[in-house]
Amino acid sequence: LLHQDAYLVDGELKKWTGETSKVFSTISSTENYAPTLLGTIPTMGESAADEVVKSAVEAYDKGQGIWPTMKVSDRIKCMEHFVAQMKTTRSEVVKYLMWEIGKSLPDSEKEFDRTVEYIYDTIEDYKQLDRNNARFTKSQGVNAMVRRGPLGVVLCLGPYNYPLNETFSLLIPAIIMGNTVIFKPAKHGVLLISPLLEAFRSSFPKGVINIVYGRGRDVASPIMKSGKIDVLALIGNSKSAIALQDQHPNKNRLRLILGLEAKNPAIILADADLDLAIQECITGTLSFNGQRCTALKILYVHESIAVEFNKRFAEKVDALPFGNPWEKGVSLTPLPEPEKPNYIRELLDDATAKGAKIINTKGGERTENYIFPSVLYPINKEMRVYHEEQFGPVIPILTFKDIQEPLNDMAESNYGQQVSLFGRDIKTIAPLIDTLVNLVCRVNLNSSCQRGPDVYPFTGRKDSAVGTLSIHDALRSFSIRTFVASKDN
Ligand code: G3H
Repeated sequence: LLHQDAYLVDGELKKWTGETSKVFSTISSTENYAPTLLGTIPTMGESAADEVVKSAVEAYDKGQGIWPTMKVSDRIKCMEHFVAQMKTTRSEVVKYLMWEIGKSLPDSEKEFDRTVEYIYDTIEDYKQLDRNNARFTKSQGVNAMVRRGPLGVVLCLGPYNYPLNETFSLLIPAIIMGNTVIFKPAKHGVLLISPLLEAFRSSFPKGVINIVYGRGRDVASPIMKSGKIDVLALIGNSKSAIALQDQHPNKNRLRLILGLEAKNPAIILADADLDLAIQECITGTLSFNGQRCTALKILYVHESIAVEFNKRFAEKVDALPFGNPWEKGVSLTPLPEPEKPNYIRELLDDATAKGAKIINTKGGERTENYIFPSVLYPINKEMRVYHEEQFGPVIPILTFKDIQEPLNDMAESNYGQQVSLFGRDIKTIAPLIDTLVNLVCRVNLNSSCQRGPDVYPFTGRKDSAVGTLSIHDALRSFSIRTFVASKDN
């Protein structure tokens, strides 16, 4: 058991003596199913919120603090110290990724290694940015040296599906650009931060990074209400993002960096390579059980190939092995949210009552912490699964005759992150790309949707995102362009 009894504030790991909350895993360590108790975390509220706000505000000191005015090379040294310390925690963090969120061993290791690589790449990009900033350029008689400066105090909230990697894709650029940060880990994927607390404490000046625990409404709300937050950086759902923004007393002053929901479609054209399309749609819909904002969440199959596609796709889904995250070769693993199987069941019942069928044999089979992936066909707009981001193992399929049908649906959708397009004829595909890039921010040709490699911009249109992440873009998102000018006398 891990009893997390300290939080990070003012550069100290301060002992928490108040109430605590239990952290459970949906994975059972007993034969007669019972969730496993993993440990406890502090249940924090308003007074802890006040403390971390004070700590971050003082460290920023209206832009005059040690951190925002520190030389770039010194900030880099701190970040290098942090990543060196972090690397020693790999096995511990990977263990918690498996137990807390049910991520498979290879994917947990990948999440850790990708994060380390992300930090090194961020450092390199930051050096490059600084080199470019350090030059005067002349325009219309004025010499100017453009620099990038911090924005202030950042509140960072990450998601449960990538509690390390995506959270750090906010935290690391925010810190390195000279901001000070308050971070509250996700509800599932919280204990894995414990092995990193000392690395944070020992790497950065006091108050640069502050870590609190507790429910959003108890601790994140008072932080926002303080009016001292300059940037809300959140990856999660729109509902929380809107609620938090609304609590800020001066919204004009608040900058937003948000990664939100998506309903990425795959469009499978009549001439698509079916083997490839089926394989990519399997990984696209079901890697990490579909709990990815980039997952394929609805499939549009051309009516001329639907019978064959559906049959082969459903068989492949049924063949996917389910097991605990550390078991060799597993594809499907327990769902970390205990209530998720019930939500998925509701979507299935709603769709089947309105005319869809579960077309794979094992679809909807329940265990205590899982519901086997269901391939639902045919879908229509009356069904909840057409509109809601299922974020779990359900694959809705509909057919189309004319390509304009999925394009119209995408244009009407509230989301606009990515699309996958499967087809062979470049004469059909090329003109489609020009339309698709206006509907979403990434068009994947003959491949499933994904965020990486992290050098490419990661964003979305409409309700899917505000601001752009990726190594290069995040450094810019967490900073503002300023410049020093001198006249040519
Ligand atoms: O949940 C959303 C993540 O950004 C997905 O990232 O495509 O690397 O799995 P990924």
